[in-house]
Amino acid sequence: MRILLTGKNGQLGRCFLDVASAEHDVLGFGSDELDISDASQVAERIAQVKPDIIVNAAAYTAVDKSEEDRERAYAVNELGVKYLAEQAALLDIPVIHVSTDYVFDGRAVTPYLPSDQTNPQGVYGASKLAGEKALAAATTKYIVLRTAWVFSEYGNNFVKTMIRLAKERDTLGVVADQYGCPTYAGDLALVIKQLCEQYQAKHDLPWGGYHYCGDMPTSWHGFARTIFALAKEQGVIESIPKLNAISSDQYPTPVKRPEYSVMDLKRLDELRVKASQWVGSLNQVLERLK
Ligand SMILES: NC(=O)c1ccc[n+]([C@@H]2O[C@H](COP(=O)([O-])OP(=O)(O)OC[C@H]3O[C@@H](n4cnc5c(N)ncnc54)[C@H](OP(=O)(O)O)[C@@H]3O)[C@@H](O)[C@H]2O)c1
Repeated sequence: MRILLTGKNGQLGRCFLDVASAEHDVLGFGSDELDISDASQVAERIAQVKPDIIVNAAAYTAVDKSEEDRERAYAVNELGVKYLAEQAALLDIPVIHVSTDYVFDGRAVTPYLPSDQTNPQGVYGASKLAGEKALAAATTKYIVLRTAWVFSEYGNNFVKTMIRLAKERDTLGVVADQYGCPTYAGDLALVIKQLCEQYQAKHDLPWGGYHYCGDMPTSWHGFARTIFALAKEQGVIESIPKLNAISSDQYPTPVKRPEYSVMDLKRLDELRVKASQWVGSLNQVLERLK
């Protein structure tokens, strides 16, 4: 099938090309080839490619920077999604889109359901929520997968930062009072490919919003501990630094991170896909980073 992929140079974009290109005609575009915040570029590209489905892996993802760059964050995360969705609706093409746990305030004590009250705490989360709403307003044929704590062999992410720091330092402080679910971008990409194929087979999907992330919640400190243990086992790092548990107050950021962004994954059964088994996937990523 013919798939139009935006944001092909990001973590998810690159993983999607890896998992889907061999079997499908994936036409991927970087921001230099298709800027989704430009309505005319969006219309032209979609008309030119004539895809069966659109996968939106493009986003403004600089969480802290978005506080000063509000206009750009909304241009990409809200308007970009709106333009894609409007064109897709005109041509009856479905859109698979990705959103974030940052739409929540992180004050829950049990895993968030897709239907739970949103309350973003910063511009990034608010712009992503605005994108979800713009998508739902423009078309009915959409899937939103909210994900979290994305890592991969590509780009910048927590796993690669921890590996770098382990090579530079003997001691490290990592936040231990924020909980979430690490997610391998390759697992998310595979699920999106499966959804594309389900649509190809049935010309239908159970449209709507879902959560997709790793199966085992942890803290950043717990995530770091697992990264170091596996990286040492695989010979990616020579020694494990002393890992101190610190509080969010000891590591201030311009945007407050959600304390608890664990997402409930039961609704994934409706999509007939499985959650990301992130520890196994982390092992594979470390193998590739060797
Ligand atoms: N990373 C995480 O931890 C995380 C957590 C929760 C949800 N998510 C969501 O997951 C999705 C994928 O994230 P990711 O980690 O793969 O992000 P990423 O690595 O930052 O990639 C995002 C891509 O979007 C492209 N992009 C930015 N502005 C664009 C524009 N105007 N037009 C077209 N492309 C544009 C960027 O291209 P250029 O670099 O060429 O500008 C970049 O390659 C996003 O929707 C994100 O919000 C991510």
